[in-house]
Amino acid sequence: MKTNYEQWAVYQIWPRSFADGNGDGIGDLHGVLAKLDYLKWLGIDAIWFSPLYPSPNADYGYDCADYKNINPEYGDLELFKQVIDEAHKRNIKIIIDLVLNHTSDQHEWFKQSKIPGSKYHDYYIWRKGKGKDGKKPPNNWLSMFEGGAWEYNEDLGEHYLHVFAKGQPDLNMANPAVREEVKDIMRFWLDMGVDGFREDVITYIAKREGLPNGFPLPIATGCKHYTSLPKVKDYLREFKHDVLDKYNAFTVGEAPMMTTKVAKDYITGDDHVLDVMFHFQHMEADCIMNDWVATPFRLGKLKRVFKHWQRELHGQAFNANYMENHDHPRVVDKYGSRKYRVQSAKMLAALYILQSGMPFIYQGQENGMTNIELQRLDQFKDVVTFNNYNLAKKFGLSEKFFVKYANRRSRENSRTPMQWTAEKDAGWATPWFPVNENCSEINVAAAEADPNSILHWYRALLKFRKENPVAIYGKYTPLRAGRKVFAYESEHEGKRLVFVGSFSDKPKAFTPPAGGELVFCNYNTVQQKLQPWECRVYVMEN
Ligand code: NOJ
Repeated sequence: MKTNYEQWAVYQIWPRSFADGNGDGIGDLHGVLAKLDYLKWLGIDAIWFSPLYPSPNADYGYDCADYKNINPEYGDLELFKQVIDEAHKRNIKIIIDLVLNHTSDQHEWFKQSKIPGSKYHDYYIWRKGKGKDGKKPPNNWLSMFEGGAWEYNEDLGEHYLHVFAKGQPDLNMANPAVREEVKDIMRFWLDMGVDGFREDVITYIAKREGLPNGFPLPIATGCKHYTSLPKVKDYLREFKHDVLDKYNAFTVGEAPMMTTKVAKDYITGDDHVLDVMFHFQHMEADCIMNDWVATPFRLGKLKRVFKHWQRELHGQAFNANYMENHDHPRVVDKYGSRKYRVQSAKMLAALYILQSGMPFIYQGQENGMTNIELQRLDQFKDVVTFNNYNLAKKFGLSEKFFVKYANRRSRENSRTPMQWTAEKDAGWATPWFPVNENCSEINVAAAEADPNSILHWYRALLKFRKENPVAIYGKYTPLRAGRKVFAYESEHEGKRLVFVGSFSDKPKAFTPPAGGELVFCNYNTVQQKLQPWECRVYVMEN
């Protein structure tokens, strides 16, 4: 086994909203430097940076305009090197986002690709269109983000493929020259000292030959023809063999629509091509496909998904455990309770951090940050929100209704500036995005001073996890519990851990495990029944 990444707890930074070091209202690397001690104190072993690349921000860095540079809004290469060195001094690893499925339309490669005869033409997926004038798209694929998946270029008389926003043309990974570029980019950052990569929508990087039409869907028609095709593994094997293995680099792949069967092909055995993988199934206990198509919360689904992934991967691979990232609403509002914010945030934290695997914590999650309450559409920033607004209009929904809905379901809920202090705007000068008004109550400064805070709870959980291998490697068994209670047991080398968590506003009957020592409880006094959103963790020797 290579790097002992199993021990790591990873903290995700979405740079624009993390910490502002130069007072321009946009998070930056000086801000990050100033917070490294905070992350160390919290018990973090690695930071995953969402993209830091120069970008026109059609998708906030996931539209990369230069793979070997830092967005000047955040700093420069020298400053990033300083961040790496300072993090390493604190024994914190650095993982950066690698967006390989697409670039920005402002990337030099893409600009050149529009020049007839340029070698860059074949870096992207350009095709002749249909119809007499060739202006009809080459197939019926729809984007994940914005209408059709093809954009016509008059000068070339061809269309380019963009599975995401128009400003995110897909790369043609079938072209060996593109794969050489990828390896070169990997070496560039690894030589600088980064420890690994989070690979964005990595299972999309191969497209089916001939680009056949897909089964019609409201969005993402055609996705079957670019999800987890066999070529993906070939490409990843090549990157691993030619570069990643030489540096002992860690990889976590983002994999929408992933199943355990397919995941195992990527992350288990001698021929594994990724270390761990983000799947989405446990994020769909209150929605179908994505957060915008909301359903009532189904605890049964959450239980089933955790059980399935835990049991299927046990002993063969490691789960990447998360409850929040920059693509989802805040988890206290998604699966927890605003009324019992502190209790439910703590319960959800213990529920996933103590399962076998590698926990990822998203900025602000450790402080129980909540969703936004914006008033107007023009306060939002994200291409996905605007696209969904266009869809909502077609169904006759009003802007007022839509804004309320977006305040619950959009991914912008997790992108508000970090709430560091109780001051106006949580200490941010002219923040680029509205700061949640509840910052006077929910902020890091207050949480640090309160030993009962969510923040201290996260810290204690991470410390416990480090000291108790059962919380890293344990074999998972679901326990029978009431309808609104989640319970599991984890077992490792003669030690057992029992987690019990209530998802109810009402007291729930409960029988504690025999001989268990109570190591965590999110209430100060333990009563016979489980109190609303109560969580208890017991350990015992066999
Ligand atoms: C997944 C990223 O997490 C998301 O933020 C981004 O919009 C898409 N990939 C496209 O890069």
